[in-house]
Amino acid sequence: MPRKILVAVAWPYVNGEPHLGHIAGMNVPADIFARYHRIIGNEVAMVSGSDMHGTPTALKAAEEGVSPEVVATRYHEIWSKALADMSFSYDLYTHTHTDRHVEVAQELFTKLLENGHLVEATQSMPFSETEQRFLSDRFVEGTCPHCAHESARGDQCDNCGRTLDPIDLINIRSKRDGSTPVFKDTTHYMLKLGDFQEKLEKWVTGKDDWRANVRNQTLGMLREGLHDRAITRDIDWGVPVPLGGWESKRIYVWFEAVLGYLSAARAWAEQKGMPDEWKKFWVDPEGESYYFQGKDNVSFHTIMLPSILMGSGDLNLPTDVVANEYLNIGGADFSKSTGNAIWVTDFLSRYEADPLRYYLSSIMPETSDSDFTWEGFHAANNNELVATFGNFVNRVLTITTKNFDNAAPTPGELDDDDKAALAACDTALAEVSKAIDGRRFRDGLRAAMRLARHGNQYIDGKEPWKIVKVDKEAAGTALWVGLNVISTLRTVFYPYLPTSADKIHSMLFQNSDTLADGWNRREIARGAPIQNPERLFTKLDDSIIEEENVRLASE
Ligand code: MF3
Ligand code: ZN
Repeated sequence: MPRKILVAVAWPYVNGEPHLGHIAGMNVPADIFARYHRIIGNEVAMVSGSDMHGTPTALKAAEEGVSPEVVATRYHEIWSKALADMSFSYDLYTHTHTDRHVEVAQELFTKLLENGHLVEATQSMPFSETEQRFLSDRFVEGTCPHCAHESARGDQCDNCGRTLDPIDLINIRSKRDGSTPVFKDTTHYMLKLGDFQEKLEKWVTGKDDWRANVRNQTLGMLREGLHDRAITRDIDWGVPVPLGGWESKRIYVWFEAVLGYLSAARAWAEQKGMPDEWKKFWVDPEGESYYFQGKDNVSFHTIMLPSILMGSGDLNLPTDVVANEYLNIGGADFSKSTGNAIWVTDFLSRYEADPLRYYLSSIMPETSDSDFTWEGFHAANNNELVATFGNFVNRVLTITTKNFDNAAPTPGELDDDDKAALAACDTALAEVSKAIDGRRFRDGLRAAMRLARHGNQYIDGKEPWKIVKVDKEAAGTALWVGLNVISTLRTVFYPYLPTSADKIHSMLFQNSDTLADGWNRREIARGAPIQNPERLFTKLDDSIIEEENVRLASE
């Protein structure tokens, strides 16, 4: 029975362009996971979209003097294109300003209200006297009462990860004009998170395969005790509260954004013409769901979303919340002093997506923060992709096409080295499979690369370019084994480097695709046509390191 896997990728705020930190933390791992599960034969829906509402976008719009919708739409288009250019295989990438999403968010809000999990409460909220309006969440900042971080926001401290209310902030100020707000009473709906405390504790305690950071962060918050949390805001950009008398308020952005996974799954099913398909992931008890994101999103996915889901019915809770730490740029000191980012669109104007996917997978901040450096990218590209993987593929294909008339040779009897190379293929398939399914993407990449290295060493040992002149059959055997290793590299690298995998596929098998072959060592048929090799990777000049570091420093 195929497994049913929802790959739920965090919804980016569309107040800026995607940078490498975003995609290293969420899109790259999610795409590896989705592609792996598709090729192994599971049913996958990979969904996400742009988080259009809320103060980040409203803040940016205010700075520019345009409406939030203008800003949101502009960056939604930039994000959509960049994600496609990275070959991320979304089944649906939508946004939160659709009718379908608004309807789903309002429906769950109403169910929670009917089920008694919402209460009205009068709260003291920051009010700007200069602007005569309430300032919520990200419109204010101040010092975190827990860790003394100086620029904590009204909803959360990015340093210690705790959720906050604006009133908790010390030295609160408006991010719009720097003025000090006063606190004024306003009425909001609160979600009674305490109703779910026990169920959440039980649920999380059983999740021993979660990453330690996610589990500990969540258990820590549960230990401190959950209290009511406002889920409406005094703001006019967002999903309307589905009740009379609430026209001047909107549903809190995090409440509705986390429901994007559900509304997007429903929209995806409708678009496929099978409107009930979403239930496979959300209702079917066998359905699995994996949520990919940065560590600052954890509490919303391990506490807020499950509470909403439990309180409004019984939709499936996350199977795992796969949160990454942060990716720093240019070395920690570098990013601290300049705060620079590398933009995906700009990166792709000079380099290809697969080498970037490779390098980001190799340094993925799975258990601790990591650094992107141009030295590291250059070395990964030149030493690993070009000199090991690409060189191996290129050598085997060149000698085969030249000496065997563009056809796979027929092997003679296999010796121990031949058998070891073929066994390494099966090992790689098993190891990469286990690592990706276990959400250990760096390990999976390392296992795939071990096979490329094995292939390279094998062919160095066999020297078919030399022996082809004296013993054509022995050369043919080595090349046939080499071709089988390449066939397997195509498969194990497919989740990580889909474009390169498909290039290899067309050189070896012409007319179908990697995905269609499934997760196995597709054997090379004797005499099968082999195409002239096409370049897989491009060597980068040493000068790019200096050039890019200068560019980074000058931005
Ligand atoms: N927009 C949020 C951020 O960029 C993430 C939202 S994830 C969602 O941090 F699931 F809530 F949509
Ligand atoms: Zn803090």
